[in-house]
Amino acid sequence: MRAMPDITDPEIEQYAADHTSPEPALLTELAQATRDFSSWHQMMVGRLEGRFLKMLVAAVGAQRVLEIGTFTGYSALSMAEALGADGRLITCELNPEHAAMARSYIARSAYADKIEVRVGPALETMRSLDGEFDFVFIDADKPSYLAYYEAVVPMLAPGGLIAVDNVFQARRVLDAAEENENVVAMRRFNDRVLADERVESVMVPIRDGVTLIRRV
Ligand SMILES: C[S@@+](CC[C@H](N)C(=O)[O-])C[C@H]1O[C@@H](n2cnc3c(N)ncnc32)[C@H](O)[C@@H]1O
Repeated sequence: MRAMPDITDPEIEQYAADHTSPEPALLTELAQATRDFSSWHQMMVGRLEGRFLKMLVAAVGAQRVLEIGTFTGYSALSMAEALGADGRLITCELNPEHAAMARSYIARSAYADKIEVRVGPALETMRSLDGEFDFVFIDADKPSYLAYYEAVVPMLAPGGLIAVDNVFQARRVLDAAEENENVVAMRRFNDRVLADERVESVMVPIRDGVTLIRRV
């Protein structure tokens, strides 16, 4: 059987990245530091998806952003670039080492006063949050995606957008016999969103797949 690529199409992905606005130097440094820090560095959204997230936050005009899954802070810092003067971003992370690395780069950025890293299980953190969010990025443990989604839909401001990462699971969602817990959870999540009459959604084949969701 042919080995499956971990992203949709590496060559076209690279071409797209090469024809996308550059990331700031601090993010290039963070990306390299993340590759040195963790063998799981592919969890980081990287340049193309990072610029995509910034574009979405800008397009929505988001003032309040919630991220579920900080890792080393690359996506949080990407989205923060598009926040207005009063914009705020809360990012949830379970792993204290990941949070510490993210905080160290956030502190060096121009967005230290806009980004707050909350350490702990995201569902618990979310229960403590007040108000509405204009943009939510879901990018943490896959078996909890449905729970994150159900918690987040009522918190979405009018005109707000949810972006959900890794909806392709390295193409494995195509294999109906696949029993991996993350893949099973993601197939269930993808089907649930499609059937949810509260929202409309678009599944975008960028990197490992990003679904954009808005309330109707
Ligand atoms: C895919 S990575 C996030 C990548 C990040 N958005 C980026 O682009 O750099 C997922 C992160 O979610 C964290 N995580 C896993 N389970 C979690 C939970 N229950 N609550 C909060 N964070 C969790 C992991 O420790 C990991 O850092």
